[in-house]
Amino acid sequence: MVSRAPALPRSGRQSLPASGGFSSRSAFVLAAAGSAVGLGNIWKFPYIAGENGGGAFVLVYLAAILAIGVPALIAEIMVGRLSGKRPVAALAGLATAAGRSRRWRSIGWLGAVTGFAILSFYSVVAGWSLHYLWLTLSGTLLADPGADPAATFARHFGELMADPRRLTLGHTLIMVMTVAIVSRGVRAGIERATRIMVPALLLLLFGLVVYAAVTTGEFARAATFLLAPDFSKLSWSSVMTAVGHACFTLSVGMTAMMAYGAHLGGSSSIGTSACAVAGLDTLVALLAGLAIFPLVFANGLEPGAGPGLLFVTLPIAFADVPGGALVAAAFFALLAMAALGSTISVFEPVVEEAEERWGWSRPRTAALAGGAVWLLGIASVLSFNVWSDVKVLGLTPYDVLDKLTSDVLLPLGVLLAAVFVGWRLPAAVTAQEFADPHGAAFRLWRLALRYGTPGGVALALIYTLAG
Ligand code: PHE
Repeated sequence: MVSRAPALPRSGRQSLPASGGFSSRSAFVLAAAGSAVGLGNIWKFPYIAGENGGGAFVLVYLAAILAIGVPALIAEIMVGRLSGKRPVAALAGLATAAGRSRRWRSIGWLGAVTGFAILSFYSVVAGWSLHYLWLTLSGTLLADPGADPAATFARHFGELMADPRRLTLGHTLIMVMTVAIVSRGVRAGIERATRIMVPALLLLLFGLVVYAAVTTGEFARAATFLLAPDFSKLSWSSVMTAVGHACFTLSVGMTAMMAYGAHLGGSSSIGTSACAVAGLDTLVALLAGLAIFPLVFANGLEPGAGPGLLFVTLPIAFADVPGGALVAAAFFALLAMAALGSTISVFEPVVEEAEERWGWSRPRTAALAGGAVWLLGIASVLSFNVWSDVKVLGLTPYDVLDKLTSDVLLPLGVLLAAVFVGWRLPAAVTAQEFADPHGAAFRLWRLALRYGTPGGVALALIYTLAG
């Protein structure tokens, strides 16, 4: 062990109440995995993998996770743990101690603003799963699919999109749960929720994979679609999609992982934790594909795009298999839980910052900040109906929020954090967070963080902006 750099505000860690942080490293890993696993894994990954050449895309995606995402994830957790403070203060403290400009703290501001905006529409989409859970449990969804189930389920989805009140209800429920969990703090709120949700989610997903394989006999075809490499479908744009998705799915770029890292005490290896988080996240993405595609293929359906796949296509399969209602309910519950693990992590840094600024109690701050996010979310709700013709550059308010955050602000946050930790913090400071400060793991990580992450993300950013 080398001695810790004395100039660092490590004692800042004590600024967190002793009972407030994660109680163990495994609790931290579960919470961070809960953040990483979300709508991105279950709704987006299977589809983009299938469309971009299956196994060929998965290979590029894994490379992006390892060379771009994981190094950034380690860097973010490290910023949090090194200082033990909320992201803006952590960045300011580390920059000052390293003799750099305090302006680096703006990464924290950028993250809070991006998180605020992402949460507003992510919660609306997460609300759809609650609506579908209700439709399933009340027996409405699968009641009578009629002669043309595809048309029936498209109608159900259309009705939901056309109804601002129902969309608002789902969005409100997700925000209320998010505020309720975050207002109890990291240990009593986030840790307790993710300790139950993440294992439950994994169990449900395993169950669904087995169920889909057994009832349809199409496991092999799904596995081929998802995993067999077809390099002819792999384009430059697929590679950029993989890079963007690797960052989004690991929840980097908006300081959520910095905030969680600040509550991770001890001297355990951040690298090992980050790999565990990335491993769980990838496992869930692959399992989601292996649960969904057998059902899709067995019913002669198209592995269609985005929301359609989960809310229109999949119910057709559920209507057709034994015990379908129960399975559908399990699936939509899984989706809601996955989303909730993500919403609380995005909300945590927003609340920490607001708490500090306004000096209010956590419950009060969470309620007010949650109310503000909720209000912005209404713009997304209305984008699907009343405001569907209100467009900026051909995009609805929902599209603008989604594209601006996921395609521009989030990659920018990753880029800046990688440059700050990789190029602006002294190697001796970051090395102390590794079990062996002179070992290969540290050198490999630093190399990837200085070149892989900024290089890959900058290319993706330029690609999107040019397109
Ligand atoms: N990682 C989450 C997902 O895959 C989304 C998310 C992004 C959560 C950024 C927190 C921060 O759905």
